[in-house]
Amino acid sequence: MFSSKKGQLCVCLIIISVFLLLDACLIFVYFKYFVPLNGKGPVVPIVVTTWNYSTANDRAWDVIARNGTALHSVEMGIAQCEIEQCRHTVGYGGSPDEHGETTLDALLMDGSSMNVGAVGALRQVKSAVSVARFVLNYTSHSMLVGSQATDFALAMGFRAENLSTDYSLEIHRRWKENKCQPNYWQNVSPDPKNNCGPYHSIRYSLPRVKGSAASVNEIEMIDDENHDTIGMISVDHKGNVAAGTSTNGLTNKIPGRVGDSPIPGAGAFAESGIGAAVATGNGDIMMRFAPTAIAVELLRMGYSAQIAAQTVISRISKYYPEFQGAVVVATPYGDVAAACSGWNTFPYSVHARGSNMTIKTIRCSQYLH
Ligand SMILES: *[C@@H]1O[C@H](CO)[C@@H](O)[C@H](O)[C@H]1NC(C)=O
Ligand SMILES: *[C@@H]1O[C@H](CO)[C@@H](O)[C@H](O)[C@H]1NC(C)=O
Ligand SMILES: *[C@@H]1O[C@H](CO)[C@@H](O)[C@H](O)[C@H]1NC(C)=O
Ligand SMILES: *[C@@H]1O[C@H](CO)[C@@H](O)[C@H](O)[C@H]1NC(C)=O
Ligand SMILES: *[C@@H]1O[C@H](CO)[C@@H](O)[C@H](O)[C@H]1NC(C)=O
Repeated sequence: MFSSKKGQLCVCLIIISVFLLLDACLIFVYFKYFVPLNGKGPVVPIVVTTWNYSTANDRAWDVIARNGTALHSVEMGIAQCEIEQCRHTVGYGGSPDEHGETTLDALLMDGSSMNVGAVGALRQVKSAVSVARFVLNYTSHSMLVGSQATDFALAMGFRAENLSTDYSLEIHRRWKENKCQPNYWQNVSPDPKNNCGPYHSIRYSLPRVKGSAASVNEIEMIDDENHDTIGMISVDHKGNVAAGTSTNGLTNKIPGRVGDSPIPGAGAFAESGIGAAVATGNGDIMMRFAPTAIAVELLRMGYSAQIAAQTVISRISKYYPEFQGAVVVATPYGDVAAACSGWNTFPYSVHARGSNMTIKTIRCSQYLH
C-alpha cells in the first residue's frame, strides 16, 4: 500500500518533469524562431527617408559618407526637401491654411544627447528644419511656435520671406470658390459641409460611436498629395542616431493647426544604441498614439524593426481603421522596416554603407480587429 503510493508519486513527478522540460523547449523554440528580435552587432551607417525623396536621401548620405554626424546629416537631407518643395508638402508654397498662408512644422532629435529642437506653425521663414537646429543648439527649449518662432529665427539671422506662391494661392482660391470644401470643422454653425466660416460652436456634442471617432470628413481629405511629410533617420559611423521631420501640414487647415511632425515621440523619435522611428500620414490622428516613441521602446525590448512598425500601426488602426499613415523604423545595427495603413503601397528610401540608395515599396496591410 505504502510503497505503491510512493511509486505513484514517482511516476507523477517524472511526468511533471517531462512536461516542464517540453515547455521550456517550446518557449525556447518560440522565442528563437517565431518572435523576430533585433540583434546588436557592428554599427551600420545608414540613411532612411519616408517616401521616394531620393535627392534628400542622397544629400543626407553625403554627410554620413564624409564622416559627418547623424544630426547634421538629417538636417541637410531635410533642408534639401524644403528647397525642392518635395511634392508641395514640404517647404514653402504648399498646403495653404484657411487664410491662404503656408506655415511650416519641423523637428530634429539628437539620439545621443536626447536634445530636441522644433518649430510649429512657423511663419515667413523657408528653412524650418534649420530653425529647429537653432532651437536645439542655442536654446534650452525644445519647441517654438508661430510668429514668435519667426522672431527667434530673424534674431538668429534668418530672412523673412513670402511662403506663398502662385501654386499655393491658386489652391486657396479654388477652395474658397468651392464653399471652403473640404474643411476640418465639426459641430459648428453654419454647417461647415456647405459653408465658409466664420463658424461658432454648437454647445452640445453629437453622440459618437466608440471606435469610429474619425469623421468621414477627417479621412477623405488626406489624399495622396496631402500627407507626404519627410521623415528621416541617420546613423553615423560612430553609431549616433538622429531623426527629424519637416512639413507644411494639411491643405486648408485651420490656422494654428500643428500636426504630429514637430512633436518628439509622434513625428520622430531617436535614441542612440537603440534606434529611431519617423511617421508620416494623418498627423492629427497619429499624434494621439505617440507611435515613434513606442516603436523605439519596442526596439529596446528587443523586437525587430518590422514588429515595432507593425505594432504601432495596428495600435492606431484599432481605433481608426481607415486612417492613412506609415511608420519607418531603423536600428543602428542595420535592421530597417516600415509598416503602413490606408494606402495601397508606401515607398521609403534607404542608403546603407556598402550599397546604393534603393527605394523600397511595401504593401499596406489591412489590420482586422
Ligand atoms: C515618386 O513617387 C511618385 C508617386 O508616388 C511618382 O509620381 C514619382 O515619379 C516618384 N519619383 C521617383 C523619383 O521615383
Ligand atoms: C571620423 O571622425 C572621427 C572623429 O570625429 C574619427 O575618430 C574617425 O577616425 C573618423 N573616421 C573616418 C573613417 O574618417
Ligand atoms: C550646432 O552645434 C554643433 C556643435 O555643437 C555645430 O557643429 C553646428 O554647426 C551647430 N549648428 C548651427 C546651425 O549652428
Ligand atoms: C507673396 O507671393 C505671392 C505669389 O508670388 C504674391 O501673389 C503675394 O502678393 C506675395 N505676398 C506678399 C505679402 O508679398
Ligand atoms: C551601385 O551603383 C553603381 C552604378 O550604378 C554600380 O556600378 C554598383 O555596382 C552598385 N553597387 C552596388 C553595391 O549595388
